[in-house]
Amino acid sequence: MFSSNKIILEAKNISKYFGTITALENVNLSVREGECLGVVGDNGAGKSTLMKVLSGLYKPSRGELFFNGNKEVLDSPRDSQNLGLEMVYQDLALAGNLPIGENIFLGREPTKNLGFLKILDYKKIKEMSEAHLDKLKIHVKSADQKVEELSGGQRQAIAIARATAFNSKLVIMDEPTAALAIKEVGKVLDLINGLKKIGVSVIIISHRMDDIFAVCDRVTALFQGTNFAEAELSKTSRDEVIGWIMGKK
Ligand SMILES: Nc1ncnc2c1ncn2[C@@H]1O[C@H](COP(=O)(O)OP(=O)(O)OP(=O)(O)O)[C@@H](O)[C@H]1O
Ligand SMILES: [Mg+2]
Repeated sequence: MFSSNKIILEAKNISKYFGTITALENVNLSVREGECLGVVGDNGAGKSTLMKVLSGLYKPSRGELFFNGNKEVLDSPRDSQNLGLEMVYQDLALAGNLPIGENIFLGREPTKNLGFLKILDYKKIKEMSEAHLDKLKIHVKSADQKVEELSGGQRQAIAIARATAFNSKLVIMDEPTAALAIKEVGKVLDLINGLKKIGVSVIIISHRMDDIFAVCDRVTALFQGTNFAEAELSKTSRDEVIGWIMGKK
């Protein structure tokens, strides 16, 4: 497995308030190159809020973010994308009526010039997306297939393909298996292990211990908006992690 000690993302003392609600208080988190970090916690523990801070969707009320050791202030998800971070949201945000290839490149499509016009280069979109799907061992009949024709697991795979199509270094996935049948869960987990092998780091939020123990190198638990416990996966157990989620050590 590809893994190094290089920390590619570090969040220090992140707090996030929504009016009088404290969603996060002094939270720390770090991810190494090629590492998969599991983030667990009860409903409302602050997991999604933390990921939205990491991706630049939310501005932290306090605290700092470091990418490759450099302090960065993110104004939008576009800023974090430029630093190599991609987020796969739980609702996936795919366009069902568009083909797979265009979904992968949505908003970042290759174009070609036709006289004075810039138009989408559909041939290139198809070629590049099929090559990328091949690399991730995602099998679809054709990149021309519409996303609405795909199964839940295939859609999740396309969302992950999109998140990794632009040389991303870190992919954050918020509950990527929650809506999937068992067989499709396995495929998504295989995909995560494949990303790790090519040096891409992953943060996965999941309530399923099977997911955490199939792909993660380390697991961290949030409880009521704070860091509660953290361990290398080899040094903990399902029961212990389930205890952390409930606020027990
Ligand atoms: N936009 C918002 N405005 C106000 N409060 C918010 C907002 N987003 C999150 N919160 C609050 O912050 C806390 C953390 O929410 P968050 O969505 O991060 O939890 P979570 O750990 O992702 O939970 P779940 O497992 O249910 O997805 C909750 O109390 C929630 O109500
Ligand atoms: Mg959430």
